Amino acid sequence: MSPITLALSKGRILEDSLPMLTRLGLGPAGDIDRLLRVPSEDPGVHLLIIRPADVPTYVEHGAADLGVVGKDVLMEHGGSALYEPLDLDIARCRLSIAAVKGSPYADPAGWSSGRRVRVATKYPEITRRHFAQRGEQVEIIKLYGSMELAPLVGLADVIVDLVDTGNTLRANGLVETEVLTQVSSRVVVNKASMKMKHAALQDLLARIQTMKA
Ligand code: ATP
Ligand code: PRP
Repeated sequence: MSPITLALSKGRILEDSLPMLTRLGLGPAGDIDRLLRVPSEDPGVHLLIIRPADVPTYVEHGAADLGVVGKDVLMEHGGSALYEPLDLDIARCRLSIAAVKGSPYADPAGWSSGRRVRVATKYPEITRRHFAQRGEQVEIIKLYGSMELAPLVGLADVIVDLVDTGNTLRANGLVETEVLTQVSSRVVVNKASMKMKHAALQDLLARIQTMKA
């Protein structure tokens, strides 16, 4: 049978999952700083090192059999095309709304300014769904990073961004006003692979389950 391909989210999730992969005998057997496709120490498993936002796409299309990705990215990607059998409990944080401390938007009750609230975020779909559920019309401004800057320079009234320690918010004079969802890294599996490589994938998932951080 062809090897199992595991797509890993480059960056924080890769760093946080490396100890577990090494304990499982699935550590990279190559230079992960440069290579995008690396054999693992297990000849039956190959690793892809890709941007977090691309992991659901690779797994959905079967270019990877399974992947490790944040719940935030999965929720933004949407759909039910993937199995999500495991919560790895790593890269834990939360997705929250934040505003400039002392501004009218720091108190959600003070939002009724008459005009649409401008929300800067890397997560337009999650944000749209959240405010639609509340029956609120907002203007969503898509950004790719450093969301905390947007309300400081008048680009947005509030942000929807990841918060862990709260240090980044505090350092920029922002306050968290509402938590949308808790976030951690999940294992996702391609549905066809789950049928075609059932035994190998179940074995791998069971090993990961017992080795969780
Ligand atoms: P890209 O480089 O493609 O823009 P990124 O900057 O979002 O990706 P990381 O910062 O490594 O990549 O974040 C990857 C994932 O780690 C996020 O999707 C989220 O699930 C989690 N994460 C992000 N920030 C934190 C944090 N401060 N604490 C804990 N987990 C976090
Ligand atoms: C993430 C997130 C926040 C920060 C929150 O950014 O976008 O800015 O972490 O963490 P804290 O509450 O512990 O301060 P990251 O550090 O990954 O940088 P990025 O903007 O490059 O993604």
